[in-house]
Amino acid sequence: MDCQRHLFDIPNDVAYLDCAFMGPLTGKVMAAGRSGLARKARPWELSVDDFFSDERRLKALMARLMNASALDFALIPSVSYGMAVAAKNLNLAPGSEVLLLDHQFPSNVYVWREKARASNAHIKTLCRQSGQSWTEVILDAIGPQTSLLALPQVHWIDGGMIDLVAVGKKARTHGAALVLDLTQSLGALAFNAAAVDADFTVIANYKWLLSPYGTGFLHVAERHHNGLPLEQCWQSRNASDNFATLTNYHDDMAAGAARYNMGERCNFALLPAVEAALRQILDWGVDNICAQTREHTEHLAHIAKEFGLNSEEEPLRAPHYLSLRLPADAPKTLLQQLRAKNVFVSRRGDRLRITPHVWVNEADIEHFGAALKMAL
Ligand SMILES: Cc1ncc(COP(=O)(O)O)c(C=O)c1O
Repeated sequence: MDCQRHLFDIPNDVAYLDCAFMGPLTGKVMAAGRSGLARKARPWELSVDDFFSDERRLKALMARLMNASALDFALIPSVSYGMAVAAKNLNLAPGSEVLLLDHQFPSNVYVWREKARASNAHIKTLCRQSGQSWTEVILDAIGPQTSLLALPQVHWIDGGMIDLVAVGKKARTHGAALVLDLTQSLGALAFNAAAVDADFTVIANYKWLLSPYGTGFLHVAERHHNGLPLEQCWQSRNASDNFATLTNYHDDMAAGAARYNMGERCNFALLPAVEAALRQILDWGVDNICAQTREHTEHLAHIAKEFGLNSEEEPLRAPHYLSLRLPADAPKTLLQQLRAKNVFVSRRGDRLRITPHVWVNEADIEHFGAALKMAL
């Protein structure tokens, strides 16, 4: 696949290497968002179908992206919301263990601390030694005492990748639940929901799905389709598409995971933009995105090595992620110095996190090298 810079509004002198922070919107996604917002300027043109049709199309696209059924999805605003649904619908046996990773993203930590406290279960935070993969550490830690694993597919700071098929298999042999946060991988790395068979899988769309902020998806395994939603939203009940009879209250919920949809999910401005973004990602193909980001991170790693910054301690690095350990004497202002040169990356803990996408070109990579040379 060729560089896709022309589809984005990224000036030539900006090296944007920070998709793990915020994915930019393409011109098509912006246009879809604008015409979505325009629907609200003319409410008399809205029909009942406008409240439900975006959702139907989005869930079908997500089903393609994740090898899942469209019925398994709910629309949510954030990872913390999706995790709250998962926590409400899982039981932790007293004395059992919940496995988390060291320095995991907080939306997939606080909720489990609270749940463990309320259930008299324990949190076990997994750490790894240099040269060990996260998969090895997780597989070693799963046992009869494990009630839940709450994990990402890619660690948001170090870029270490996890073999979720192997982890899911071992979790099931011990009857442990598996809850996933795919925010730092879906769209850039293949994921097969049927093969992993997680209980709840949560995604915020604004990074690798190149979608608006405040949108996300929850994938729910069929075995949890009869659970309890966080909210009693009228649109999640049967027959809610008949606005004339909404006060014929229904106890029965909409089919599949739709009961977990957030209230007012029919977001006229944002959902058309999400749809355009998902169509673009499916059009490029996740494997092509992955191959292109791999080329970029390999090239960037090569350049960074010239300045003594290494990524080689990471045995199973996600192709779209380059996480460089900074030396103790790295300038505190490194990020600001790079920004001053129009080079955008993130610093998380002692790591410089570099996450390119399909808009990145050779000039960006040279630009990064030149700015790093001046800053270090
Ligand atoms: C791994 C991961 N999960 C989730 C989020 C966002 O969480 P929330 O949608 O709860 O704000 C981020 C943001 O950086 C993230 O890196």
